Amino acid sequence: MTETLITPADAARTAGDVLLEVEDLAVEFRSDGGAVRAVDGLSYRVEAGRTLALVGESGCGKSVSSLAVMGLLPPTARVVGGTARYRGTDLLALSPTKHRAHCGTHVAMVFQDALAALNPVHTVGYQLTESLRARTGASRREARRRAVELLDLVKVPNAAQRVDEYPHQFSGGMRQRVMIASALALDPDVLIADEPTTALDVTVQAQVLRLLAEIQAERQMGLVLITHDLGVVAGVADDVTVMYAGRAVEHAPVRDLYAAPAHPYTRALLRSVPRIDVVDEHAGGRLPVVPGRPPAPGSAPSGCSFHPRCDVARTGASGAVPAGEGAVRDVCRTVEPPLDDVAPGRSSACHFAAELLGGARA
Ligand SMILES: Nc1ncnc2c1ncn2[C@@H]1O[C@H](COP(=O)(O)OP(=O)(O)OP(=O)(O)O)[C@@H](O)[C@H]1O
Ligand code: SF4
Ligand SMILES: [Mg+2]
Repeated sequence: MTETLITPADAARTAGDVLLEVEDLAVEFRSDGGAVRAVDGLSYRVEAGRTLALVGESGCGKSVSSLAVMGLLPPTARVVGGTARYRGTDLLALSPTKHRAHCGTHVAMVFQDALAALNPVHTVGYQLTESLRARTGASRREARRRAVELLDLVKVPNAAQRVDEYPHQFSGGMRQRVMIASALALDPDVLIADEPTTALDVTVQAQVLRLLAEIQAERQMGLVLITHDLGVVAGVADDVTVMYAGRAVEHAPVRDLYAAPAHPYTRALLRSVPRIDVVDEHAGGRLPVVPGRPPAPGSAPSGCSFHPRCDVARTGASGAVPAGEGAVRDVCRTVEPPLDDVAPGRSSACHFAAELLGGARA
């Protein structure tokens, strides 16, 4: 069957258009002990003009799932199930060449270790337009003009002058802006930003997030914002998908999620981070993370993979009624909860989601 390259870019972006739809994505790594699953049945959708935050602790599969969408998995990993449809075309069914042609162009990514990715021996302007020159054959002059535009777009002051400077002449925050500009060079429909602010101090983090939100809104782009910190998404995301051990465990519009999480893991994450805008009670420094550790890929416990860390499994949603002398409820130990709808636009993979929501409303 012949593959069709989707017409770029300039397909109009109308708010609400589904740009990227990931469904049941599964990724495995080869290891000495056999295949281990790092992403297991992840689904999410990205619409024009909206920001989806993909949130979870280290190792839950945020980066691996994004690299799979981009066709950039390391050789030891492979996609073993699912689809990733960009404007209806399954990227995962394309040849590697076509896949990469789409990505970078229509779906771009700011990588987690982006700050290290800038080459110290080339000017920022050169690096910003490498992909542009390779893909469009733009002249040096045209590419430089575009590089200045891109630096302006990400609000680097004195862009016309700074375009000829080298990465070490930029601060961390400014380098991160350059990486964002680089990902935007081909005017992508969807931008996946993997932890774009973790290396930055809090004030610069806020500036970079605000910038991303502005660009996203102005261009009606779909933005996937990856973070381990629910605190940073309150002011910028529209929707949140919470991941645990390779799976989505909760999906909700951001305000609903903050007002009443429908999964104990989300609730624990919310307790562990400062809030930005909704409720101020946790304002202040960073609080301890969720007690315990997530399971390594391939060693998830039976039943609900969160059960060894889950307070609700022991004490009920309200925390008031011990469910069997502190023992984990049988259903949590033995039956894996599916990600089910629990309210309009909301889903949760917890046997007691209704109880959690009921308690929050009471
Ligand atoms: N090259 C690799 N070889 C084997 N396993 C890997 C490799 N890269 C990632 N993994 C495993 O896949 C799982 C998901 O990793 P991933 O990098 O997606 O986590 P993450 O959610 O992005 O975490 P972080 O917040 O630390 O960036 C992890 O448990 C990790 O150990
Ligand atoms: S299913 Fe049980 S263990 Fe899992 S999150 Fe819900 S209450 Fe906790
Ligand atoms: Mg990561």
